[in-house]
Amino acid sequence: MNILITGGAGFIGSHTYVALLAHGYTPIIVDNFSNSSESVIGQLADITKSPVEIVRGDMNDSAILDQVFTQYKIEGVIHFAAAKAVGESVENPLKYYRNNVGATILLLEKMQAYGVKNLVFSSSCTVYGQPETLPVTENSPVLKALSPYGNTKQMCEEIIEESTRASQQLKSISLRYFNPIGAHKSAKIGELPLGPPANLIPYLTQSVAGLRGPLQIWGTDYPTPDGTAIRDYIHVCDLAEAHVKALAYLIKQNEAPFYDYFNIGSGEGSSVLQVIQAFENATGKKVNYEIRERRAGDITSVYASTEKSNKVLDWKATRSLEESLKDAWAWQEAIL
Ligand code: WQD
Repeated sequence: MNILITGGAGFIGSHTYVALLAHGYTPIIVDNFSNSSESVIGQLADITKSPVEIVRGDMNDSAILDQVFTQYKIEGVIHFAAAKAVGESVENPLKYYRNNVGATILLLEKMQAYGVKNLVFSSSCTVYGQPETLPVTENSPVLKALSPYGNTKQMCEEIIEESTRASQQLKSISLRYFNPIGAHKSAKIGELPLGPPANLIPYLTQSVAGLRGPLQIWGTDYPTPDGTAIRDYIHVCDLAEAHVKALAYLIKQNEAPFYDYFNIGSGEGSSVLQVIQAFENATGKKVNYEIRERRAGDITSVYASTEKSNKVLDWKATRSLEESLKDAWAWQEAIL
């Protein structure tokens, strides 16, 4: 079964590519390489021992989508392609609305036109803003996002739900990721943002590798046990496997329209200082850091209730924070 992976050369998309192939699907990648390098394609061919089906282009380019949907009989779509840095979205909101919302609308139009029924959407825990109660469940209110990035994810979820309801044929699932980290055991693929990393783990590993100065800790005055912000870090391979489960579950639904939401996290909250400690325990490497003011758009604490995805999708994260950090470091060493 042909599955289109938009943004499939990216961090989560590439790991999901491997997981889909391992489960008998035929993944096809569309990517404009705006936040990933071409080398990923060769690595995917290496890991999977098979040639990679890819169309190079932008998800906002109608002709590219027409090419994909006519060249392949696509039966499902996993939509990753989006800009994803919270901080950058505060500085450049229009890039985020064009890139994230515009492309989703175009994709939905094409799926309608070509009769493609199954959509898994890469959403994010940022839709919850700062939840009032933790762990956060799928019924927790979607609060006004604190950043344009989070707002684009909220808007895309609503656009997908409403067009699914109106279409009578579309079935969609939004997966609300927490913080994906780590890398494939082969250390051939991993997180490799172009330019200075916005996210904690790639910055931390590049700093320890001597590629960057000391890690900057954005804020130690949060109302948390050690003053640093808490997030739910999940191994990217656990996250990739969640997509396979979600797709299988979606395909099995024969009632249309169908739409649902699932939290995909480890279920554990870890502070920045706890992550640093876990990294040092896992690798024996020292993390040098400096303390800075809070970053605009950041929330204090969020971590997932994963009861619903455990029960309904028969999925659970199995890799620990230390294992994820060990794999992140092995990846960093491989690309030095
Ligand atoms: C984590 C914590 C920072 C960098 C991410 C993704 C977003 C979405 C949700 C998937 C925060 C602190 C960070 C640094 C730091 N994921 N930090 N120094 O902001 O929670 O959002 O998860 O859709 O795409 O960006 O992740 O890694 O940027 O920050 O102190 O150099 O680490 O303040 O508390 P975030 P992050």
